[in-house]
Amino acid sequence: MESTFNLEIFDIKLDTDVIGRNFIYSEEVNSTNSQLLDKASGNIHGTTLLTEKQSKGHGRKERLWYSMKGMNLTFSILLTNRKYFTKQFNLLNFAAALTPALSIENLFQLKTELKWPNDVLINGKKVSGILIESSSKGEKLERVVIGIGLNVNQTIFQGSFNIPPTSLKNETGQTIEREMLLAELLNVFEETLENVVANPKWILKEWKARCRMIGEKISVTEDDKVKYGIFDDIDENGFLLLRTNKKTEKIYFGDVSLA
Ligand code: BTN
Repeated sequence: MESTFNLEIFDIKLDTDVIGRNFIYSEEVNSTNSQLLDKASGNIHGTTLLTEKQSKGHGRKERLWYSMKGMNLTFSILLTNRKYFTKQFNLLNFAAALTPALSIENLFQLKTELKWPNDVLINGKKVSGILIESSSKGEKLERVVIGIGLNVNQTIFQGSFNIPPTSLKNETGQTIEREMLLAELLNVFEETLENVVANPKWILKEWKARCRMIGEKISVTEDDKVKYGIFDDIDENGFLLLRTNKKTEKIYFGDVSLA
């Protein structure tokens, strides 16, 4: 059932210093990512925009992201502090994916799985998708937006999906309080974000511990090219290392499946 988001309950449970302290709640926007990428939304690092409905919610590879109004968590976080725009920038993808994974494990004791680069799965089904977008001035990154869609109380999903979808309600059998869940997500994100800079090895270790495809035969689809090999590892910058007969190749983007 659709529920209204109670800002007071959320605020009591939010335990961050910066992330989500500037909080914007909106009934409907085109896309929370597009809104925060736009300079008109201000420059405050950590600004978080939550919406109940997106008219142009999008995912990787220009896929659409649909979410039923008032049922899930659809939000983006703006980063403007250059301290996080390092050569390990790619690790932001891993920190972002770890955020729903760790929060779900903390709150519901469910096992999560991570799929490269940043899908979050429960029992082989996708519960959360993440899209990181940025804008630059010349060569300099100016704004980075971490967009997270998490299926919470929606139980029916229509359409065709490359990975079957699920929600926390489907997996736990319970209706979930979105306010405490969003507060937990932002509390966890603030910590994982600090670790991107302070302890990148921890980010990689935690991410790899939840990735079941490492060591397996996989296919990687990049645009219309498909490559096959063994998912050897993730390097220190977050690139996938694909071992084929002759060599090990670095993969920068693409969709990964078991072959
Ligand atoms: C994917 O699975 O390809 C990523 C989906 C990302 C969806 C989120 S919902 C909040 C934010 N706003 C968007 O338009 N997209 C992201």
